[in-house]
Amino acid sequence: MVGDPGPFGAVKVAPSVLSADFGALAEAVGEVSPAADWLHVDVMDGHFVPNLTIGPPVVEALRRHSGLYFDCHLMMTNPGQYLEAFARAGADGCTVHVEIGGTDELVDQMRQLGLRPGLAANPDTPFAALEPHLHQVDLVLCMTVFPGFGGQSFMPEVMDKVVEVRRAIDDRGLAVDLEVDGGIDEATAQVAGRAGANVFVAGSAIFGHRRPWAAAEAIGRAARSGREPSGPSAPVGAPGRGSERPAG
Ligand code: DX5
Ligand code: ZN
Repeated sequence: MVGDPGPFGAVKVAPSVLSADFGALAEAVGEVSPAADWLHVDVMDGHFVPNLTIGPPVVEALRRHSGLYFDCHLMMTNPGQYLEAFARAGADGCTVHVEIGGTDELVDQMRQLGLRPGLAANPDTPFAALEPHLHQVDLVLCMTVFPGFGGQSFMPEVMDKVVEVRRAIDDRGLAVDLEVDGGIDEATAQVAGRAGANVFVAGSAIFGHRRPWAAAEAIGRAARSGREPSGPSAPVGAPGRGSERPAG
């Protein structure tokens, strides 16, 4: 692992390079880095989703320019075939979709490769599909748009599932980050933070902004105000403080 993932449950902003200038990717990442906790890398295979984007060679090239935690979102039908290549390229975490099945094997494979495993669910995939895997993964990603394209509108109806996942993480004391992805800006980051998300992916709201770092900072502030509505004086254990990794 190259990048530091930070503590479980802490608010993290993850700019999505999908909306950055692919012709000047290293510069775009460098520009946003001071305000970024993670870098979100959207991998699309033209099969699980209709679009085609980037693969391990681009991750490897970016790795030479950035020490950020690389959060690779694999929108792929057959990610198992590529996990080793992503690990070699310098990915820190990889997230596979629960809809493709074979989750147990994929999570084992990621652990063996030293990747932090994540599990993603589309907006219409229920909590019940994620539930059996919560104790196995480091990250749950609740998609707040149907994957495939940047620039879509946030789906507030997904917040019920975010609440369910947050409750399960906290009730069971799990060391799991809860990420939202799709249509995240200042307003929706606050909504998703209030529901229990702690990792906020944003593409167009950051890279479509004249000052991407300022947009990322603003999203982080909004997310924190959603997660911790009563501010830093909120009592320990109050909703919104996130979970700690259990001892041992
Ligand atoms: C969508 C991708 C997202 C995308 C988000 O399929 O998974 O990560 O980059 O873009 P915005 O923030 O523009 O919705
Ligand atoms: Zn994504």
